[in-house]
Amino acid sequence: MDRSFVLSFFLRQLVILLLMLPCRRNILIDAAGGKWDILQSNIGISAMHMQLLNNDKVVIFDRTDFGPSNISLPNGRCRNDPNDLALKIDCTAHSVEYDVTANSVRPLMLLTNTWCSSGAAMPDGTLLQTGGFNDGDHNTNDRNIENNLYPFVFLNVDGNLFIFANNRAILFDYTKGVVVKTYPTMPGGDPRNYPSTGSAVLLPLKNLQGGSIGAEVLVCGGAPKGSYVSAMNRNFVPALSTCGRIQITDANPQWTTETMPLARVIGDMVLLPNGEVLIINGASTGTAGWELGRNPVMSPVIYQPDNPSGSRFEVQNPSSTPRMYHSSAILLGDGRVLVGGSNPHQYDNFTGVLFPTDLTLEAFSPAYLDPNLARLRPKIISPASPSNIGYGQQLAIRFSIPPGRLSKNLVTVTMVAPSFTTHSFSMNQRLLVISGGNITAVGLSKYQIRVVTPDSHNLAPPGYYLLFVVHQDIPSEGIWVQIK
Ligand SMILES: *[C@@H]1O[C@H](CO)[C@@H](O)[C@H](O)[C@H]1NC(C)=O
Ligand SMILES: *[C@@H]1O[C@H](CO)[C@@H](O)[C@H](O)[C@H]1NC(C)=O
Ligand SMILES: *[C@@H]1O[C@H](CO)[C@@H](O)[C@H](O)[C@H]1NC(C)=O
Repeated sequence: MDRSFVLSFFLRQLVILLLMLPCRRNILIDAAGGKWDILQSNIGISAMHMQLLNNDKVVIFDRTDFGPSNISLPNGRCRNDPNDLALKIDCTAHSVEYDVTANSVRPLMLLTNTWCSSGAAMPDGTLLQTGGFNDGDHNTNDRNIENNLYPFVFLNVDGNLFIFANNRAILFDYTKGVVVKTYPTMPGGDPRNYPSTGSAVLLPLKNLQGGSIGAEVLVCGGAPKGSYVSAMNRNFVPALSTCGRIQITDANPQWTTETMPLARVIGDMVLLPNGEVLIINGASTGTAGWELGRNPVMSPVIYQPDNPSGSRFEVQNPSSTPRMYHSSAILLGDGRVLVGGSNPHQYDNFTGVLFPTDLTLEAFSPAYLDPNLARLRPKIISPASPSNIGYGQQLAIRFSIPPGRLSKNLVTVTMVAPSFTTHSFSMNQRLLVISGGNITAVGLSKYQIRVVTPDSHNLAPPGYYLLFVVHQDIPSEGIWVQIK
């Protein structure tokens, strides 16, 4: 896609936004668009998997079997692995730790191959990494390449697992091993998982007190059936431009279809602290897999789940870095989105290829971080970060807002679980809106809001969450809370 198209598209969106001005609930109009910054020009590896930890450090994995990386292990250490497919003795690192606060990188030792793996932050904050390839896995069958890898899995509020693969979904009781419900096939019938890689989120969980709690899933993008084989034959088919949204807790759940302003395959979906969904990275033709994507989509799109249907998408300012297969994106505690990776090649190829292996780290700052909006931005005073919280408890949160700026009925409190992200899917990504209202002034421009914490493990599995105060859709910096 060329720049003039992107620009004209953006301008058109802006006009549409201005026309919608009177009926929009948020006030980000003057700053819509967001901003991009390169944080690191070379972290030595390609950021294929990322997990933010509760110390504001990000663990990043690449893979071990592409030969030497561009960063050495410290103190002359080397890995001696007779099973490695490229280097039996390897003195370079294939994982790094990115320190968000210091904006610095240090190499980490990997013992086995993390390619195509998964992971999760445990209740105590420890990163558990599972699966992988070759010596990192024990039951791989990578010949079934058009199987549906990386299904979209969410813990439903009833404790069952919602599992989506290809174009279908089930509700699975993992304690009894039984399928509780089969959902209707997604309209259109096209596949949404690897290699027709779309992405998905569990939309923000709200109204958590009393009654039955609803949960909705949004699946966006992907590639039409047959795209993988077409792309192998060098016919790069346009990606899907549709999203499906479904209330997974309904007795009779049905998909509704919405159309994105930009078609996208191998994108990522990131829940922002204000409950909006960022759709970022990826390509507009081809599929996931080696050399199989074309026409990078440079502009992210924000989806506002609570807007009326037809006015939910908003195109953002473009990056200048293509993020193709094996790229990733995660939310940081300050509300920025960390973006990295892209390596559609077997081995690292820095020259002579369409989309060179990318070793950069970039940040997308949504419009809510625009300095013009600092006048509305809350700052959490207490509790301290990190803090322990319990289930179903009253929690008093104190925050400040510049003098005279508070709109009491436009304050919410959200909790976001940091996810393990790779291959266009963020595992354990979850956002809870826990606001209760009842804001009282406790000093000059200082306020207290009382909220009730989630009352069950099914709503909020134990572990660390980022807690944000959100005012007029503008989030504070997050603080870490550990719920247990
Ligand atoms: C990575 O290292 C290789 C040599 O090991 C070098 O040829 C290449 O230019 C480096 N690439 C980057 C982007 O630093
Ligand atoms: C990438 O690099 C590897 C190893 O140097 C090479 O064999 C391969 O042909 C390159 N891939 C492309 C698409 O040029
Ligand atoms: C609001 O807070 C005040 C002061 O803490 C308390 O007395 C009152 O009961 C609260 N109201 C509600 C509806 O929670």
